[in-house]
Amino acid sequence: MQRNKFSKSLLLATIALTYSISGYSAASKADYRDFVPSPEQPYYFEDGKVDFGTYNGFRRYHADCHVCHGPAGMGSSYAPALLESLKVMSYGDFVNAVVTGRVGMNNSVMPSFAKNIDVIKYIADIYAYLKARSDGVIGMNRPAKFPKVKKLIADK
Ligand code: HEC
Repeated sequence: MQRNKFSKSLLLATIALTYSISGYSAASKADYRDFVPSPEQPYYFEDGKVDFGTYNGFRRYHADCHVCHGPAGMGSSYAPALLESLKVMSYGDFVNAVVTGRVGMNNSVMPSFAKNIDVIKYIADIYAYLKARSDGVIGMNRPAKFPKVKKLIADK
């Protein structure tokens, strides 16, 4: 009984930590100005446009991941197609892979991005972009976007 309680609170603490690392918080959406990403709904899509974070994810992906994972998440001979991976991978597992890196078959290696601020800071955006690709919501090209939404300092 005691033990169960403990493992439950440990689980909740882990979930809370995962969310706070990524800057996620729970909320529902009304339009793109109210949209707050969550692991369940990481991107916003309406009238052929994505939220600014998802668009930023597209840019970050192409700067840091494209070289191995291929154009628009489609994979290469060196690294897997992330748009397939994200059909089964949780947000937590995604973050974990990027933070710790991977050693794959044929000695292919993915470095740890733990010290790359341009990746870690925007990891939720990269996830959002790949999830939108994985869900088939956006195509290969640069997606159209809604304007960046200014956040109050208090929201931070
Ligand atoms: C130097 C090449 C390289 C770069 C750059 C790279 N990766 Fe990888 N990544 C790999 C390899 C190789 C694997 C497969 C390892 C394996 O087989 O388990 C991998 C695996 C992954 C996985 C696990 C996929 C799965 O199905 O288990 C994720 C998630 C991932 N990478 C995300 C990223 C993201 C996001 C970026 C950009 C920030 C990135 N990678 C940049 C080489 C790379």
